[in-house]
Amino acid sequence: MNIAIVGSGYVGLVTGVCLAHIGHNVTCVDNNPDKVKKLKAGKVPIYEPGLEELLKKYLKNKRLTFSTSIKSASKAATAIFIAVGTPSKKNGDADLTYVENVAREIALAMDSYKLIIEKSTVPAATGKRIERTIKINLPKKFRKGNKITLDFDVASNPEFLREGSALDDFMNPDRVVIGVESKKAEKILREIYRPLKPKMVVTDINSAELIKHASNSFLATKISFANALSKVCDHVGADVLKVAEGMGYDKRIGRAFLNAGIGYGGSCFPKDVDAFIRLSEKSGYSFDLLKEVRNVNEAQAESFLRLIEDKLWIVKGKTIGVLGLAFKPDTDDMRNAPSIGIIQALQQEGAKIKACDPEAVANSKHIFKDITYCKDPYAVAKNCDCLLLLTEWNEFKDLNFSKLAASMNQAILFDGRNFYHDKNLEEAGFEYHGIGRGLKIR
Ligand code: UGA
Repeated sequence: MNIAIVGSGYVGLVTGVCLAHIGHNVTCVDNNPDKVKKLKAGKVPIYEPGLEELLKKYLKNKRLTFSTSIKSASKAATAIFIAVGTPSKKNGDADLTYVENVAREIALAMDSYKLIIEKSTVPAATGKRIERTIKINLPKKFRKGNKITLDFDVASNPEFLREGSALDDFMNPDRVVIGVESKKAEKILREIYRPLKPKMVVTDINSAELIKHASNSFLATKISFANALSKVCDHVGADVLKVAEGMGYDKRIGRAFLNAGIGYGGSCFPKDVDAFIRLSEKSGYSFDLLKEVRNVNEAQAESFLRLIEDKLWIVKGKTIGVLGLAFKPDTDDMRNAPSIGIIQALQQEGAKIKACDPEAVANSKHIFKDITYCKDPYAVAKNCDCLLLLTEWNEFKDLNFSKLAASMNQAILFDGRNFYHDKNLEEAGFEYHGIGRGLKIR
């Protein structure tokens, strides 16, 4: 099928490359000419394992092309995905300016049947607004009074892929959700995903939009539950890892997303939880449960800082080593990374920061001032007064901990992800502090 994807950011790019991989002819559109030039040359502007290789492959056999023109890309396509950003406004609402602009441009270029599919995470009822925008912007020749003479459909097809494992998530989805209002739209979307043989969930558009917000909010709720639990564990002297394991074997609960730590970050959960709270509020329901999910999340980094202050005693003048800056491993993404607030607070208190990250250093240079970047954890640890593990990169797992400890002024390690729970760091010479591991801290 000929497919256009408008927006070559994270979701658009991965979707475009993967749709080419399963046999479609795809044009990815972006309004940034520099980005399009780089993509045409096979250069991917983000770090996502495996993405650049696949992109190069399908550029070469011409199943994948890039363009700055919505008009030319959508003319050749039957299905047009909208995958532009939906950032947060100051009040937490999703800003749908880009979505509206793209819908208008698609409408102006339409001359035959098109299926317009929203892939961006949007509040419920956005599909209806896209439909209306298209109707009122169609060329005059397709309008007779109030009647539209050109057939088109709008559908919702939310994306559930995670940064760092995006290709695998796309190729092996737990489910593909499609929100449609016509048989024709359903048929086209089924055809697009047929090679993946996925579990299809077919709903109306509003429900599909809500599935995405509800899923992200529920996952955020699980994380905040684990984080709240970690507080109780510290108080009563229990181990949050054991409690999560014991809970997780219950199939109704599951172990995933019960990892306590320094809180969730990234470009999705914080923004989507905010947007869902706002959406509920506007519809007349105050989603207090989600407000508390957000509060618990924000408190995690705070209490991590209090732990560091407590154990370090004086922060001013100390050298603090940071392992990991990205909001999660296998990505260079620094958006809403918990490392930002933690590092900035420690700097404000007068600490000197040394840090390393396998991929996120370039992006973090736009955020932090006065950090000494090092090539690896050993260079970070040298002469430090403590180490913080903030992102659980595989590269940091099996280190020579005795060597690390020996090179430090004070061998104290604060593990913000309970990443080293299975290592005997005390034996290596460290004073070790995890999250919610009450038994160990006492
Ligand atoms: C998330 C969802 O998992 C995807 O399904 C969704 O498609 C995506 O948002 C989106 O809306 O685009 P992502 O933000 O890439 O994906 O990353 P996650 O793996 O979900 O992690 C989010 C944050 O939660 C990270 O900061 C991670 O460290 C944290 N986390 C995750 C925890 O603190 N504890 C956990 O148990 C799991």
